[in-house]
Amino acid sequence: MNKTIIVSNRLPLQVKLEDDNLNIKPSVGGLATGMKSVHAEGNGIWIGWSGLTKEELNENLTEQVNKAVAKEKCATVPLTQNDIDNYYLGFSNKTLWPLFHYFSEYTVFESEQWETYKKVNQKFADVVLKHINDGDTVWVHDYQLLLLPKLIKDKKPNTTIGFFLHIPYPSYEIFRTFPWREELLHGMLGSDLIGFHTYDYERHFLSSVKRILRLDVKFNEVSYLDRIVKVDSFPMGIDYKKFENAALKHTNQEDNEKSELQRRLDDHIQSGSDAKMILSIDRMDYTKGIPNRIRAFEYFLNKYPQFKEKVRLIMLAVPSRSDVPQYQKLKRETDELVGRINGQFATVSWTPIWYFYRSMPFENLIDLYTSSDIALITPIRDGMNLVAKEYVATRTNQDGVLILSEMAGASKEMNEALLINPNNFAEIADTVKYALEMSLDEQKNRLEILQKRLKRYSVEKWAEEFLKSLNNTKQLDAVIVAEKMAGTNETKMLSDFKKSKRKLLLLDYDGTLSGFKNNPKDAKPDQELFKLLDNLNALENTDVVIISGRDRETFETWYGHKDYNLITDHGVWLKSKTSDWDMLERLKTGWMDNIRPILETFVDRTPGTFIEKKKYSLAWHYRKADPELAQIRTMELNTVLTSLISNNDLTVLKGNKVIEIKSSSVNKGRAASRWMAKSDYDFTFAIGDDWTDEYMFEELPKSAYTIKVGFKKTQAKYYVKNTEAVRDLLSKFVNA
Ligand code: ADP
Ligand code: G6P
Repeated sequence: MNKTIIVSNRLPLQVKLEDDNLNIKPSVGGLATGMKSVHAEGNGIWIGWSGLTKEELNENLTEQVNKAVAKEKCATVPLTQNDIDNYYLGFSNKTLWPLFHYFSEYTVFESEQWETYKKVNQKFADVVLKHINDGDTVWVHDYQLLLLPKLIKDKKPNTTIGFFLHIPYPSYEIFRTFPWREELLHGMLGSDLIGFHTYDYERHFLSSVKRILRLDVKFNEVSYLDRIVKVDSFPMGIDYKKFENAALKHTNQEDNEKSELQRRLDDHIQSGSDAKMILSIDRMDYTKGIPNRIRAFEYFLNKYPQFKEKVRLIMLAVPSRSDVPQYQKLKRETDELVGRINGQFATVSWTPIWYFYRSMPFENLIDLYTSSDIALITPIRDGMNLVAKEYVATRTNQDGVLILSEMAGASKEMNEALLINPNNFAEIADTVKYALEMSLDEQKNRLEILQKRLKRYSVEKWAEEFLKSLNNTKQLDAVIVAEKMAGTNETKMLSDFKKSKRKLLLLDYDGTLSGFKNNPKDAKPDQELFKLLDNLNALENTDVVIISGRDRETFETWYGHKDYNLITDHGVWLKSKTSDWDMLERLKTGWMDNIRPILETFVDRTPGTFIEKKKYSLAWHYRKADPELAQIRTMELNTVLTSLISNNDLTVLKGNKVIEIKSSSVNKGRAASRWMAKSDYDFTFAIGDDWTDEYMFEELPKSAYTIKVGFKKTQAKYYVKNTEAVRDLLSKFVNA
């Protein structure tokens, strides 16, 4: 039976070493809950770091850990202290975390840490590969493992791989500053489905893919090598029932069942009829806007002094990553701020801020959630923020107000909360006042809508939707009708080739025999290609024709010294082994004087684009332009040209990042047919990558082997991945 392998930096278990004894218990985090049913299914397995380093565990303990986690259907990735220093504390939390949360000034780029990050991602891959069988699904989580999807896909191409990023994906302008940006994107694109919390993160990612890797993106699908990668947003939810039930149980608590914390909270609530509590809970992290929140509270007390002695801010900050200096600095800053404000405002019976720096058991979290009139959640940036959702779920009486930063992913789906900008103290202060005075009716109306949505889109639903979508990606590839030219297809073709008496190989140049360069002039044939072409050209009973949209002059410079068969300008000129250049089509060029000025206005308005003037056509290249601007301009240009060319016998060809205008009576299909008429071929092979090659695929007889380069919609029967795969395939004819 196929299984699902879940991979995350940490296992859903807390593994602790207490006096040389192991203490292992399940952790209660949102991810663990969401994955529960997936993980429990069949022989599913969860792979991650145990939380203890190799140095902390001797051989005996390691074995004990492995056995104990195996019982929970988990497997560990052994990491050393150096790995943790450079991969976890280092690259993950000093580079990726701050950069992706827009804290560029905190971001350090250290190549040693990058090297360890790569090495540790490989260690994860090694463990995954040990457990993987054909047909399995792998779901990789979060920024610590961005390179993992590719490492798995390269070794196990038939595995379906999903990746979910739990933190924000930053705008291209931020991401582009990252020194190893291409590698990171290729790492993620090893997946079949990439998920984000919000549409904004999704579009930032797609924009990076378009601009940095120059890949084709259609809506939310990326054409990547011989696959389609789907990108989508899935806002993560919470275990709604768990929080709701805990809150209901809490309401019915007898006095003697109450925790010490609850008694203290009750004391405050009972201190006066207008006593109120504002709650905040976060990991102690600079992205959470803790100092801002304290300052905004100070601003509130100064602006609205009538609330002094009545309103209290309860702040729970959970220790986190305290070996990273920025976190230590934040802790000092928070301690000082709380001290200063409490010192300034406290009275004998009232301290404005109750501040806890610790982790609390679940029951105490519920005490806090259910006792607070307001939750004040003000991150500067946050991928999602589950605390906001948990607060809403515990308000079973439908009273309470959520004030939420618009910089949290959760704000996108929680419009009924009071949304604030975490940097605007005046707005926060006014919103807190508004919340304190909000009528019960309004509180109920807002909460009702929020609760309904959270209940429906729980964390289980989130996991289910993601996996459903991941499973559907298998059908994406099937939409493209071409079959991969590999395995039995390849064996059959080579055997047909060998058997046949008269063979024709039609080879497109750019994007097929040679990769694209920013400037077309730079895409000259290299020595390896000459060798391959020489070998093909020397094959008996075989005609090799390079058929290209390039102009005759260029091919003459490149291939003049060779006895190759060449067709240029999409079929205007022909040079064969035995004859010199001959014009296949008589063409007028007068139209160029009218079209060229139009193209020039597009060049002026679209930086990075230029015109290539060929003898019989004009080409507007936009490979180097901003892909989003280019998309708009190509549509505009198309409209302008379509209205102009209708009575001119001209055609607009959309090539690979180029628009070319040429006479309608010329195309590669016509040229290929003409060539075919010369001999009686019993084996025909044509290969090309773009739109202009489709004419050729259409014109050739049904028996021809037509091959598209790249995974795109095509009339060809087969496809190969990229130019390397083309050369590989052609060299097989030489050795056949
Ligand atoms: P982040 O993922 O950045 O830490 P979230 O708000 O998305 O932020 O998730 C925090 C999770 O940690 C919530 O599910 C919350 O219930 C849990 N949590 C917060 N404080 C504590 C605590 N003191 N003890 C245990 N769990 C906590
Ligand atoms: C965020 C990240 C998680 C991470 C968690 C706790 O939610 O998205 O990947 O596990 O914080 O951080 P820690 O560094 O303690 O694992």
